Amino acid sequence: RPPRLVDRFGRRIDYLRVSVTDRCDLRCQYCMPKDFKGFEEPSNWLTHDEMARLIGLFAGLGVGKVRLTGGEPLMRRGVAELAARISAMPQVRDLSLSTNGTTLARHAAALKAAGVGRLNVSLDSLDAARVREITGRDCLQDVLAGLAAARRAGFAPIKLNCVVHAQTPEAELARLLGYTLASGFILRLIETMPMGSSGQQFQPANLTLMGARLAERFGLVPALDTSDSGPARYWTAGDDLHALGVITPMSRHFCATCNRVRLSVDGTLYLCLGQENQVPLGRLMRQGADDDELIGHILAGIAAKPERHEFDTAPRRIVRFMSQTGG
Ligand code: GTP
Ligand code: 5AD
Ligand code: SF4
Repeated sequence: RPPRLVDRFGRRIDYLRVSVTDRCDLRCQYCMPKDFKGFEEPSNWLTHDEMARLIGLFAGLGVGKVRLTGGEPLMRRGVAELAARISAMPQVRDLSLSTNGTTLARHAAALKAAGVGRLNVSLDSLDAARVREITGRDCLQDVLAGLAAARRAGFAPIKLNCVVHAQTPEAELARLLGYTLASGFILRLIETMPMGSSGQQFQPANLTLMGARLAERFGLVPALDTSDSGPARYWTAGDDLHALGVITPMSRHFCATCNRVRLSVDGTLYLCLGQENQVPLGRLMRQGADDDELIGHILAGIAAKPERHEFDTAPRRIVRFMSQTGG
């Protein structure tokens, strides 16, 4: 039996989030500042072969869930071919992708054919001017076209990720929820985390409270089945389908049930979203480490996984930008 990844708090790690690029065509205020210059050198970027090798090692260690992120993952050339290689790994039973949706209309069918099972799409508002203000680009129509193409390609359900802070008008969220309920999408509201310097300017919203208020207004009831929900807590319209979810790292964190680690585009393994603990797997691989040595480094990293983030208790401490690990 292969060793399983269990950290010192007894958490079983079976989920790897892989950032395939740190570039993005948008500049969302809470993610990456307009003049961000800290991008990885392309020469440090792992090739698809190198990524597949590292992901294969994690799969052999019991990681059955993989999510492709960025930056914007669809900016990476050949991402569908990479997805096909990952979904062909026998241990990988869940391959998903988080995207800003701007180029999804072009990519949706290929992603589906490559074995991507689940799509999460970022959308913060249905008001074109607000979307322009938040993302720095007039992209609402592109994202809506991307969502329509994803649905046509057979993705279901599709989750919409909406980042919320204290100044976000609740009316915006109600409008989004009306739209997602009518479209069969799942809306997830996310408390802004103070990542990099870009997340610092926002007062956190309390979505534990706001989520319950919105749910009540739309006649939704708490979902009983919480298995496999990841960081989100959900409401349903009375059937068993999730309709609304909240992700509350600030008002009620979920680190005690954390099941995940992250790989950045240069192969750095990040043990926690809100902490700097890391293992330079990419560099070690390029220095010639063989698979057994790399597995040793992975196990040592997991053993050093921090208990939790400190966004709520030490919010002024700057960690890397969200765009480096894709959340
Ligand atoms: P599902 O598997 O579909 O539930 O996806 P997910 O929620 O794990 O991933 P997604 O990429 O859609 O991320 C949604 C939000 O959750 C983003 O704001 C992420 O930053 C946040 N998030 C995901 N994983 C973690 C985590 O381990 N810790 C914290 N604090 N936030 C996370
Ligand atoms: N806080 C919370 N969520 C964020 N995301 C990006 N930046 C932040 C932040 N500072 C979200 C994006 C995307 C997901 C992967 O991470 O909206 O949907
Ligand atoms: Fe896991 Fe860190 Fe996220 Fe908490 S903040 S859920 S410990 S990755």
